[in-house]
Amino acid sequence: MHNNPLHIVLRKPCIEDAGTIWKLIHNSPPLDINSLYSYLILCAHFADTSVVAESAEEICGYVSAYIRPGHINTLFIWQVVVETERHGQGIAKMMINTILRRQYSNTIQYLETTVNPSNTSSNALFDSIAKSLNTRCEKSILFSKKDFGNLAHEDEILYRIGPFDTQ
Ligand SMILES: CC(C)(COP(=O)(O)OP(=O)(O)OC[C@H]1O[C@@H](n2cnc3c(N)ncnc32)[C@H](O)[C@@H]1OP(=O)(O)O)[C@@H](O)C(=O)NCCC(=O)NCCS
Repeated sequence: MHNNPLHIVLRKPCIEDAGTIWKLIHNSPPLDINSLYSYLILCAHFADTSVVAESAEEICGYVSAYIRPGHINTLFIWQVVVETERHGQGIAKMMINTILRRQYSNTIQYLETTVNPSNTSSNALFDSIAKSLNTRCEKSILFSKKDFGNLAHEDEILYRIGPFDTQ
């Protein structure tokens, strides 16, 4: 758990948070909403690499992430969300830094995520993280529009940030 001047509490998610996380993501376009079951699984199995931000005991931010199987030096960030009223206060960056500061994170040298080209704030967030970590950000297509078949979906651009040192 970590406190800061904004009075935001940052902690690992628990199973009881899954419903609130689902609602937060549901209310946060352009994020894809996944099933409640998937958030339950993320809270149950991936809490060590995920985080919720709370203000006055209400969840106002969430990051789901995991260590890529077969790539123990790479943290893959799946979804990042901050409630609209709280945008621009540094909460997303604070949440990601919290994961990178956890004790077991000292093996992490790369951070990966995917960003849609039209998502200005997400693009700015990860460019800013690369800059703060004083490292490179390589961009390539991970999933193309075609991979989504008939669904209208943008390319998912892989951002690979690193190498960096979390010590
Ligand atoms: C993307 C999102 C999580 C950013 O959260 P946030 O708490 O507002 O971001 P922060 O305040 O931590 O900002 C981090 C950096 O990104 C920059 N940034 C964030 N939003 C920006 C915007 N709309 N335009 C320009 N820069 C922006 C900030 O200036 C900051 O850079 P700096 O530290 O170098 O000054 C938030 O906009 C959101 O929840 N969007 C909806 C969901 C989504 O699209 N998630 C991402 C895809 S998974």
